[in-house]
Amino acid sequence: MSDCNIRIIAPSLLAADWSKLGEEVRRAEQAGADWLHLDVMDGHFVENVSFGPQFVAAVRPHTGLPLDTHLMMTRPDKYLDRFIKAGSDRITVHVEADHDVSETLRRIRAAGLGCGLSLNPATPFDAVVPYLDQIDLLLVMTVVPGFGGQAFMEAETMPKVAAARDHREKHGLSYHIEVDGGIDQDTVAIAAAHGANVMVAGTALYGKADMAAAVTAMRG
Ligand code: DX5
Ligand code: ZN
Repeated sequence: MSDCNIRIIAPSLLAADWSKLGEEVRRAEQAGADWLHLDVMDGHFVENVSFGPQFVAAVRPHTGLPLDTHLMMTRPDKYLDRFIKAGSDRITVHVEADHDVSETLRRIRAAGLGCGLSLNPATPFDAVVPYLDQIDLLLVMTVVPGFGGQAFMEAETMPKVAAARDHREKHGLSYHIEVDGGIDQDTVAIAAAHGANVMVAGTALYGKADMAAAVTAMRG
């Protein structure tokens, strides 16, 4: 079974208690999470600012989990080397951002990292089609990026998840399909049914006292 059919649970640190970051990172690992998702926001591409490469570097020594860094930035190419150096295992950039998408993806792969491309709810699937043979992961945003705790946007996004799955099968590609935003015990099944296999969740995992039970429930 190719790994894009194995369900991967990736808690988003955006929803963690940053005053005890090391503990929160270890909590995700002990809860059985597969990856850690780091939501980088520059206050320009999205209407919020979260953290930068130094935060990624601070997280790195506390876990062996793959760090899945999501750059919600207008110029991801300008800061790419710093997020690579900080210890990311995978880096995802946005197709809507102001950079040479193919060149950025090439640089991420050249550094030996998994490369990902993301599209916002309002962006049509056709916008990413030219790049699908250059990526290891497609992140279909299921909320308008910027804040955790928003409602899952099913109608606008699930057809794109299904289109990504169909395209992958038709063209013999093997990228993961990741969803991020409003993913909880209920919406995870909807996303999986359409073809998503990497589930990012902040509120639905870090918001729970028993994260292990929440991770298990999210595995389906
Ligand atoms: C974009 C962020 C959020 C976060 C998850 O705003 O990427 O989607 O990861 O938020 P929850 O899981 O709390 O909806
Ligand atoms: Zn994210």
